[in-house]
Amino acid sequence: MLNDKTIIVTGAASGIGRACARRLISENNRVVALDLDRDRLEAELGPETGKLKLVAGDVARTETAQAATGRAVEAFGGVDCLAHFAAAHSKLNWEGADEDEFNRILSTNVTGSFLMAKEAAKVMIDQGVKGSMVLTASGGVLMGGTGENGRGGPAYTTSKGGVLVLVRTLAKSWGKYGIRVNALSPGVVETAMTSEYSEEAMSGAASRAALGRVSQPEEQAATAIWLLSKEAGFITGENTNVNGGAAFG
Ligand SMILES: NC(=O)c1ccc[n+]([C@@H]2O[C@H](COP(=O)([O-])OP(=O)(O)OC[C@H]3O[C@@H](n4cnc5c(N)ncnc54)[C@H](O)[C@@H]3O)[C@@H](O)[C@H]2O)c1
Repeated sequence: MLNDKTIIVTGAASGIGRACARRLISENNRVVALDLDRDRLEAELGPETGKLKLVAGDVARTETAQAATGRAVEAFGGVDCLAHFAAAHSKLNWEGADEDEFNRILSTNVTGSFLMAKEAAKVMIDQGVKGSMVLTASGGVLMGGTGENGRGGPAYTTSKGGVLVLVRTLAKSWGKYGIRVNALSPGVVETAMTSEYSEEAMSGAASRAALGRVSQPEEQAATAIWLLSKEAGFITGENTNVNGGAAFG
């Protein structure tokens, strides 16, 4: 679906981001892989090559977003796509979630999404590239979350609701440049993030899905890559649920 493109992939050391980065590399794209820790990136994706560059940093910092776009421009000449998966999880319900916890999650998940998208768009607009982006929300986010069984609590679900509004807003701003922005809303996926879920939460999620199971990260990555590709060329500002037919993610 994507071939010979330059893509910044965040959260690339684990889960959906790792699956996405691996597939993009195997399909002849150029990838700037970003995560908090360079050693983890290298352990999961291998050392830098002519098609893979590694950037370590916190997505909630402008300097990290600029480091990723700077690396893409320096190594590959520009940015075609952003696949933004990096996020922090919080299972604390309202009693336990204090100011610091709420701000930490909103900063990583909402501010981080904004800064990554903004810096990528600046390069695309400068270069006249009709690029595309996927930001990651979450299935069932609009239903709310109380953190039961290790699932997302109010800081997490609120942050993911923010991503949906951000996607719609940025799509409006950048449509005139031909830049598309969409949200991916995974149902429950087997990754490090859901290793905190109880058995009950995992089996409950599987039984709520029409397909009777939870998802694998490769299935999420495939949809993100499709949304980034020309195949989805008239879709922008939308949310795509990838949840196996689950009523509540
Ligand atoms: N796993 C699920 O069931 C599920 C469900 C709905 C939505 N999601 C969303 O999908 C995306 C990917 O989740 P995953 O399950 O692959 O998680 P994961 O925990 O396996 O991977 C997330 C990666 O993001 C990185 N990261 C966290 N904070 C960061 C920061 N501040 N700066 C840079 N990198 C940071 C982590 O180091 C990690 O490698 C996330 O946005 C998550 O909220 C996941």
